[in-house]
Amino acid sequence: MMAMSDLSTPKTTSPFLRSSSQLRLSSKLHLSNQFRHLHLVPPPLHATSISKISCSVSQNNQAPVAVQENGSVKTKKECYGVFCLTYDLKAEEETKSWKKMINIAVSGAAGMISNHLLFKLASGSVFGPDQPIALKLLGSERSIQALEGVAMELEDSLFPLLREVDIGTDPYEVFQDVDWALLIGAKPRGPGMERAALLDINGQIFAEQGKALNAVASPNVKVLVVGNPCNTNALICLKNAPNIPAKNFHALTRLDENRAKCQLALKAGVFYDKVSNMTIWGNHSTTQVPDFLNARINGRPVKEVITDHKWLEEGFTESVQKRGGLLIQKWGRSSAASTAVSIVDAIKSLVTPTPEGDWFSTGVYTNGNPYGIAEDLVFSMPCRSKGDGDYELVNDVEIDDYLRKRIAKSEAELLAEKKCVAHLTGDGIAFCDLGPVDTMLPGEV
Ligand code: LMR
Repeated sequence: MMAMSDLSTPKTTSPFLRSSSQLRLSSKLHLSNQFRHLHLVPPPLHATSISKISCSVSQNNQAPVAVQENGSVKTKKECYGVFCLTYDLKAEEETKSWKKMINIAVSGAAGMISNHLLFKLASGSVFGPDQPIALKLLGSERSIQALEGVAMELEDSLFPLLREVDIGTDPYEVFQDVDWALLIGAKPRGPGMERAALLDINGQIFAEQGKALNAVASPNVKVLVVGNPCNTNALICLKNAPNIPAKNFHALTRLDENRAKCQLALKAGVFYDKVSNMTIWGNHSTTQVPDFLNARINGRPVKEVITDHKWLEEGFTESVQKRGGLLIQKWGRSSAASTAVSIVDAIKSLVTPTPEGDWFSTGVYTNGNPYGIAEDLVFSMPCRSKGDGDYELVNDVEIDDYLRKRIAKSEAELLAEKKCVAHLTGDGIAFCDLGPVDTMLPGEV
């Protein structure tokens, strides 16, 4: 899906269309009752092609419809409704000082997590009040109607910073030129499904999305994998995107960090903002290691503030590891709102400087880490950022015997998962032996 201003060949004149030089500067917004002709979709870059479509609107204020152009039945929608007008951001006094628009892709865009996330992104509370954004929403064929519903609600929210919404089912189109890819969509484990099968099914999705990002995304795209099992999915994704730096891929463990901070704050009787330096080590699974050795409460080591060390080693650790499962028992579905909040936190941690002395947790590619963790995994570790979208590892965190043993268990789990998906990472033939105890996601009990 190419930006309309790059591709459009306007056939009708509208007061909203400007000269070609202005068009080059412009971003787009579709206005349903003012705009009649829209753009052509570029030929897809991969084999399974789709027909050219354009987005058009009726003149009587009905919902916009995608118009077929070559007589075949159209299966994809493009820009949506109010988001289809091309106009010039530099022409308006209020928007003149805004930054260049960024493109954000969200997969699983019709799901519950996205439903919370998209409105936060569009409100400006994530990337800032002068950062216009385009949302590129990826869904399945089955969810295309729901995606239109999402786009309609985004329209109705009148977010000034939201300048473009595209919806689609083809990652090679949706990921075109994206600066951020938030990969949420994944299949949950069904009844009786082996974890090996889950790894394979989701792995295929993330391998394809990795290839698509590699082919069409911005070369410095930042990728945050949320769909479970997110560490191994992130590894598969990055292995299929050799042109994108491996460092740009993250697996979401920020939700675990937030959960750990909450539990420590509760036990210590302080508000959560007093808890800092919280590391989650390892896999987003029940082997993850919430690190109470290095975390701080009001700047003091947790073990000084919470003297019940048995609780820290057992109760606290398990409560974080299994929080997702407990939530499913209560809700009847996995966490959505708090996951969306943690995605926001994870992004903000990369686009704002980390406060002096603190750090955040994110699952990153292990490549020269100082903790002796096996290379070539996606492993959650303590990181810091200058706020430029990049990060560096915090390399002087203390690891005692307790931590080392537990970190090794999470590492072993990730190594075993990696063997299960060797066919998807270019590492040969998969061999899946996940041990006598099947590994669990936090949400599985
Ligand atoms: C969570 O941690 O809440 C989710 O990852 C749970 C799940 O399995 O979806």
